[in-house]
Amino acid sequence: MINRTMNQLQWIRNGRFYQFSEEATRFQNKVVVITGASSGIGRASALEFAAQGARVVLAARRRNTLLELERQIRDMGGEAISVITDVKRISDCERLVNEALEAFGQIDVLINNAGISMRATFEELELEVIKELMDTNFFGAVYCTKFALPHLLKQKGTVIGISSITGLAPLPGRSGYVASKHAMDGFLNTLRLENMDKGLNVLVVHPGFTSSEIREKALDGHCLPHGESSLDEERMMSSERVARYIARATYRRERDLVLTSQGKMVVWLHKNFPGITDRILVYQMSKENQLTIHQNAV
Ligand SMILES: NC(=O)c1ccc[n+]([C@@H]2O[C@H](COP(=O)([O-])OP(=O)(O)OC[C@H]3O[C@@H](n4cnc5c(N)ncnc54)[C@H](OP(=O)(O)O)[C@@H]3O)[C@@H](O)[C@H]2O)c1
Repeated sequence: MINRTMNQLQWIRNGRFYQFSEEATRFQNKVVVITGASSGIGRASALEFAAQGARVVLAARRRNTLLELERQIRDMGGEAISVITDVKRISDCERLVNEALEAFGQIDVLINNAGISMRATFEELELEVIKELMDTNFFGAVYCTKFALPHLLKQKGTVIGISSITGLAPLPGRSGYVASKHAMDGFLNTLRLENMDKGLNVLVVHPGFTSSEIREKALDGHCLPHGESSLDEERMMSSERVARYIARATYRRERDLVLTSQGKMVVWLHKNFPGITDRILVYQMSKENQLTIHQNAV
């Protein structure tokens, strides 16, 4: 309830602020499809793009949460529809695109945001965990992009992938997650080249630690949600702030975005001193209790 009220206040604050700035109409007449819109970065992005004038299509598996968000956006004067979607299913992704077109007639921005994480070393996990991660984080983005692409090309729009710092650097205990984000980066970076002369913008976002439900939902080695996180979510970048960066980068048609100073430092260290960075990561891991490390990282 408190979160809900705070989100509403955030939206109202944005709405008031944007009323007197050009940001209120940045995405007017644009249609933005967001997967994983029921919580965290996806939910915050839906509110942000709606506050900046976009008509938003909300996709995720949790019906009630989506419908509540849809109502919230409508109550504030925005336009939104919900499409219950499991991005692991090809037919759901096709239906998502069709329902977006049916409701609004066009798609200008697709945000491939739906994702899950994990906490287990490769040695101790069941293979099902890697499959679940790849199916959701990578193939979910591939399916949605495939069906949306002709419509995005028509609008000279933007495909966005919410990757991670782990799309650019490794992280122990996250083999499937890191692999899915590297795969997403490779896929989208290639899509950019193939459509460079057709007016499509491809934006790959690499958030650092962001306050959301991701650590609570992360899979253990047996493919079950951990259900808890020992990290202090309050100290992380908020999903709302990440959403504002995403909207700005979309508006400016940027190609990539790396977030949090800690995230930028890890990427820089890994690029310039990979051997030392590997040792730091392994040292960090051995220094701490195994379980704590598993509970903490994205
Ligand atoms: N939070 C961080 O620290 C962080 C850092 C770097 C990158 N990221 C990335 O940011 C993205 C958003 O994560 P978040 O942090 O906002 O986590 P979150 O709060 O757990 O949100 C994840 C969203 O994905 C949806 N989702 C999961 N599986 C799905 C499926 N099979 N089909 C459709 N939707 C599905 C969830 O909705 P339902 O359960 O309702 O389906 C939820 O809306 C992820 O790709 C994540 O990897 C997060």
